[in-house]
Amino acid sequence: MRVTVAGVEFRSPVIAASGTFGYGVEFEEIISLDKIGGFVTKGLSREPMAGNPAPRIIETAAGMMNAIGLQNMGVKAFIAEKLPKLKQISDTVVIANVFGFTIEDCLEVIQALNDAPGIAMYELNASCPNTSHGGMVFGTDPPQLWELVARCKGASKRPLMVKLSPNVTNIGLMAQVAADGGADAVSLVNTFVSLAIDVETRRPRIANITGGLSGPAIKPIAMRMVHEVSKAVKIPVVGMGGVVRAEDAVEFMMAGATAVQVGTASYADPRAVENIANGLKRWCAAHEVAEVRALTGAALL
Ligand SMILES: Cc1cc2nc3c(=O)[nH]c(=O)nc-3n(C[C@H](O)[C@H](O)[C@H](O)COP(=O)(O)O)c2cc1C
Repeated sequence: MRVTVAGVEFRSPVIAASGTFGYGVEFEEIISLDKIGGFVTKGLSREPMAGNPAPRIIETAAGMMNAIGLQNMGVKAFIAEKLPKLKQISDTVVIANVFGFTIEDCLEVIQALNDAPGIAMYELNASCPNTSHGGMVFGTDPPQLWELVARCKGASKRPLMVKLSPNVTNIGLMAQVAADGGADAVSLVNTFVSLAIDVETRRPRIANITGGLSGPAIKPIAMRMVHEVSKAVKIPVVGMGGVVRAEDAVEFMMAGATAVQVGTASYADPRAVENIANGLKRWCAAHEVAEVRALTGAALL
């Protein structure tokens, strides 16, 4: 079941996605962290952030919308309070998700993490749709994305995976820009900008007005994008968007992903990531797939 992404070895290709798995320690008693490939932390910023006002999560027909606004404890508190505990409970792969409102913010977060033990790689969020500046601006403008990636790569002592925005016309091009800037891997997709209105009150159902759509509703679009990106770049691609069952993980891998992340599914079932990892193992056994990495790009497209 082992896969390697940018030199980092994972014992399963199924990884918990950023923002849906806390800082990992919260899941200690719910799932066996050793059974999953690893997890991505909630996005970490230079300073703690309170996020957006509520309501900031709603359920949709086949998924959810959120506008958390990148609430997090800040990189320093993560290093001081969460990392030591994580090291005690598991040796699972920890990926630190990094974001900032400016490139300098991102560099400061990376520099703080560089000296902290127990982190395997960074996932640079160039794609959050829920803040008024930063985030998505980087992810939708090729020159800005290139500069962000190049400077973060220059500051990073660990492999750098760049998380792409799906809110673009040509995601293959954005992946090429990230690779050109020095990204060691790309991950996609983040959430799609979306809107829901309460027809009785005539008000948006999310206080931020728009939110990011995730879950099974986005899977076919995410699949198309993973396929496009895996054709456009040579670096590893980590796919996500609506993975709920083991077969969804197989599908993303066949489209070109080396590994997958699972986000929204954990809201319906907190054990989802482990169940999907176990299910993928069974699927491979039942289909006589000796090495899971053989699934990457195996679709007849
Ligand atoms: C409540 C919530 C919070 C999220 N927070 C982050 C975040 O802090 N950083 C990030 O890069 N992605 C964040 N995401 C995006 C997910 O990591 C993932 O890219 C997206 O939800 C698509 O996968 P899914 O359909 O499996 O949920 C968040 C998603 C949700 C639902």
